[in-house]
Amino acid sequence: MANASAQIEVVSYAPEQGRWYCDQLEHGKVLYFRSIPFDFLQDDIKFLLSQKQTGSRFHKNISFRPETGVLKGMDAAGPDRDRLHRIMSDFSRKVTTFIGGFLTPYVGKLKLDFASFRPLEEHNRDLPLHKRNDLLHVDAFPTRPTRGARILRIFVNINPSTGRVWNVGEPFHEFFPRVAAGNRLAPPHRGSLGRSLAKLAAGVGLRVPDRTRYDEYMLYLHDWLKENSDFQQNSPKYNLEFPPGSCWMVYTDGVPHAVISGQYALEQTFIVPREALVSPQASPVRVLETVTGNAMTS
Ligand SMILES: [Fe+2]
Repeated sequence: MANASAQIEVVSYAPEQGRWYCDQLEHGKVLYFRSIPFDFLQDDIKFLLSQKQTGSRFHKNISFRPETGVLKGMDAAGPDRDRLHRIMSDFSRKVTTFIGGFLTPYVGKLKLDFASFRPLEEHNRDLPLHKRNDLLHVDAFPTRPTRGARILRIFVNINPSTGRVWNVGEPFHEFFPRVAAGNRLAPPHRGSLGRSLAKLAAGVGLRVPDRTRYDEYMLYLHDWLKENSDFQQNSPKYNLEFPPGSCWMVYTDGVPHAVISGQYALEQTFIVPREALVSPQASPVRVLETVTGNAMTS
């Protein structure tokens, strides 16, 4: 399918356009930049790419937690680790500054989440079904419930020669009512007793995610979509290729997406609270509440 209606190329922007761009994102568009819209040192990109010549030092995805400075995925201490830490920290800070000038209605309301470096080739990765990236899915974090807030992700393809290829589906407010009408969806719901127990556990220092009904539903839907061959094969989808050096952003909790191929991407996640949204009626939490008739976050 043509990709004209799935993606918008941003060629210029001004603060007064921020609301329009937020609205497009919240309605399921991918915003695409032909080149990285903030300073990022070529030397740093070279360093990230150089790891392929020096063997398998980056043998898995790297995650960086900006708020605590914790870097995970590269165990060995030493100058390479220190440099990677500095690069991820810079990346996170620069994306945040850029977003502040671009998506102006969100200023002061975003929660900075994890960043990642994805050095693995995505094509033909051998992963269990629920962890496969090449199947259409919406994102939900098992250990970091958003409680109705949205998941906005910004990606950069730092591969110098190869594009990153995605499929994307219709946005949540379009696909979910149809899926719910045609299928028996049965998400688990542990109710208020379960949440009380989770709070109790947290009170004594145990790490039990305090999930709302919304979080439970989104985790269920993430798996259900990957398991459902009819959705995978027959739902409308667009093929997008993000060329070397390009950048894109999308609400991955609302837009079904699958990574078909590509290697070497950077990514930063933001959690966008309900009160920051310019089009809350298109948010997954509101759509779930409307379609199911259940409150999702109380
Ligand atoms: Fe995803």
